[in-house]
Amino acid sequence: MDATSEGRKPGVVSLDPRGRTILSSLPPLSVYVHVPWCVRKCPYCDFNSHELAGDIPEDTYLDALAADLEQALPQIWGRQVISVFIGGGTPSLLSERAIDRLLALLRAYLNLLPDAEITLEANPGTLEAGRYASYAASGVNRISLGIQSFDDVALKALGRIHDGRQARAAIESAQTAVGRVNLDLMFALPGQTLQGCMDDLDQAMSFGTDHLSVYHLTLEPNTVFAKYPPQLPDDDLSAAMQEDIAGRLDTGGWKRYEISAYAQPGQQCRHNVNYWEFGDYLGIGPGAHGKLSFHDRILRQARLRNPRSWMEKAMRRDGSHIAEQKEIPWRELGFEFMLNALRLKAGVPRTYYMERTGQPLLAVAGAMERATALGLLDPDPVALRATDFGWRFLNDLLAEFLP
Ligand SMILES: C[S@@+](CC[C@H](N)C(=O)[O-])C[C@H]1O[C@@H](n2cnc3c(N)ncnc32)[C@H](O)[C@@H]1O
Ligand code: SF4
Repeated sequence: MDATSEGRKPGVVSLDPRGRTILSSLPPLSVYVHVPWCVRKCPYCDFNSHELAGDIPEDTYLDALAADLEQALPQIWGRQVISVFIGGGTPSLLSERAIDRLLALLRAYLNLLPDAEITLEANPGTLEAGRYASYAASGVNRISLGIQSFDDVALKALGRIHDGRQARAAIESAQTAVGRVNLDLMFALPGQTLQGCMDDLDQAMSFGTDHLSVYHLTLEPNTVFAKYPPQLPDDDLSAAMQEDIAGRLDTGGWKRYEISAYAQPGQQCRHNVNYWEFGDYLGIGPGAHGKLSFHDRILRQARLRNPRSWMEKAMRRDGSHIAEQKEIPWRELGFEFMLNALRLKAGVPRTYYMERTGQPLLAVAGAMERATALGLLDPDPVALRATDFGWRFLNDLLAEFLP
C-alpha cells in the first residue's frame, strides 16, 4: 500500500519497510536542451560550447535529440513539464526551422503545461531579421540575451562577436517578439571602473525588461583567461560594484531573488527557480545534466559532452550517450538541497526538505543549529533561509552542511 492510498497527504514522507525514507510525491519537472555550438569561443567561458567549423548539422542534431528524448521517456512517464530552457552554447545559431522542429518534438513527447515557460538563449551577434519572431511563433515565450556589456572596448576584451549597437538592436527585437526578456550582464570586467559598470547597468535597465542576470566575471579553470589572466578590478572595487548594482536595481523595481538574478514582481525565471527549489529536470543534448526523482531514489545524470560522440551514441538507442548516472547518496542530500535552496533570497518552505530529499529535517538538525548560532541561517520556523549575513558569506553557511 502506498502513502497516498493509506490516506496520507501527497508530499508527506514515510519510512519504507527497509528503514529508509521514500518520496510519496515528485517535485515539479523542467526540461533543459543543450545546443553546444558557438561562432567563437569566448576566452572566459567554460560551458560545453564548441567553436563552429562550417554549418551546424541541424538535422543530425535534431534526430539525436529525438532519440535522446525517446530513451528518457520511461523515466518521466506521465509527468507534467512546467518549463523548458534551450541553452548553450548559442541556441540562436539554430534556424527558425530547427527551433520549430525542436518545439514540435517536445510538444509531441512531453506533457507540457499550456502556460509552460519556454526560454531560448540568444547571442546578439547571431541576430537575423525576423528570427526571434519566428522562434516566438514556434512557442518560445522568453528570450535570454547574452549582452555582457554595452561598452565596445569591454566587449572586445571579452572576445564577444557583437558590439553595443548590435546588443541594443537584439534587445529591441526580442522585446517585440516575446513578452519576457532577460539580459545577462557581467561586471568586474577587464579594466572596468565603477562608473563604467553603472553605465552598463543603466543602459540595461533603460529597456525595461522584466529580468536581469548580473554575473561577477570569474576566471574558470581551463579557459584562455585562466591561462592569460587579464587585469581585473580588485576585490574592494568589485564588492563596491556588486553593492551598487543591487541598490540601483532595487530602486528600479528589480528585486534580487537569487545571488545573480533580479526580477520585476512575478517575473522570476520559473525554470531556474525550479533548480534552486530542488525540483527535477531532464537534461538532453551533449553535456546536459539532469536530476530525476523516483519514489525510492534521486538520480543525477550527465550526457556525453562531445557533440559528435553524443549524436552518434544517442542514435544507437542503447543508452551509451549517457556518460554518467548515479543515485545521490543519502549522506550528500542535505548539502545538495542547501546548495540550491539557500541561493534563493526568500529561501524555501521547510516542508520542501522532507518532500524533496526524502529525509526528515532532523537529518541536518546539527548543521542547522550551528549555522543559526553563527547568525548564518534564519531561525524562521516556516522557511529555510539564509540571513543577510549568511547570504553574503554563503560558502561559510554551506560548509556547515558538508557531508
Ligand atoms: C550560455 S551563456 C549565454 C548565451 C550565449 N552563449 C552568450 O554568451 O551570449 C550564459 C551566461 O553565463 C555568463 N557567463 C559565462 N561565463 C562566465 C564567467 N566566466 N563568469 C561570469 N559569467 C559568465 C554570461 O553572462 C553568459 O551570458
Ligand atoms: S557565446 Fe556564450 S556559450 Fe558561447 S563561448 Fe561565449 S559565453 Fe560561452
